[in-house]
Amino acid sequence: MEKHSSDGICFAAGNWPVDPTRTTLLFIHGSGETALLWENQVAALAADYNTIALDLPGHGDSVGPGLDTIAGYTAAVIGFVDKIGLANLVPCGLSIGGAIVQQTLLDYADRLLAGVLVSTGARLRVMPQIFETIEKDYQQFVALSRLFAASPKTPAALLEPLLQATAQCNPQVTAGDFRACDRFDVMARLGEIARPVLIISADDDQLTPPKYSDFMEKNIPGAVRCRIAEAGHVVPVEQPEAVNRAIRGFLENIVRG
Ligand code: COA
Repeated sequence: MEKHSSDGICFAAGNWPVDPTRTTLLFIHGSGETALLWENQVAALAADYNTIALDLPGHGDSVGPGLDTIAGYTAAVIGFVDKIGLANLVPCGLSIGGAIVQQTLLDYADRLLAGVLVSTGARLRVMPQIFETIEKDYQQFVALSRLFAASPKTPAALLEPLLQATAQCNPQVTAGDFRACDRFDVMARLGEIARPVLIISADDDQLTPPKYSDFMEKNIPGAVRCRIAEAGHVVPVEQPEAVNRAIRGFLENIVRG
């Protein structure tokens, strides 16, 4: 992926510069990950949309520090959007990225056309073992991610580039991401969301199980749901075509009104 940079935030773009008349999909990765998570979406959806995937502060090629609140990351994302002047915006986030998208839908709705929530939840409590393992032996945490991040049906080799990116992340940054998730809770606020929302859940997701998406579907007014089989938490890598189809169908409906 060809990468660009603005004020220390690095990002991959399907087309650069962006076309101001098009819808802009802004992809936000999960904890300890990078823009690589969205490589397939950035390439495949670029024929019809501006596609941008950023590395959050402190991740991948972006300068640090990492943060430990969703509000902080949301402000950083909005700062990036303003800096490069993205309009017709549809943020699309996975896990912590989905928390950032929910916060953006709540606090910056006037800036958005819609939002896409992938493998996420309105509350994201984190198992204490995740913090303990990151603290004790970060590479052990990465090894354990092999077991939890994907469906058992997903070929292990598909995950390797993603896991390598996580292995290179500063452990303190990854821990900060999980602290941000652990504190996040907008369960009582979902009814305030007033933009179209697509929720994508994967049947074999162990980290943000489909019941989290059931709750969002029930409580976000008018939300559209797509369930994807034979995939786990990192569904954009495991079933890229199904994810792309869901996003395309959702955006076509919004444009048609
Ligand atoms: N949407 C809907 N329901 C949710 C929810 C969400 N986002 N988050 C929690 N709940 C539900 C739980 O299912 C549980 O319901 P139950 O009592 O009917 O079983 C209840 O709310 C309380 O759950 P939780 O707030 O998570 O606290 P807990 O002390 O029961 O569990 C963990 C804590 C960490 C064990 C648990 O959250 C978990 O297994 N998390 C998933 C694994 C993980 O670490 N994921 C990383 C996410 S970034």
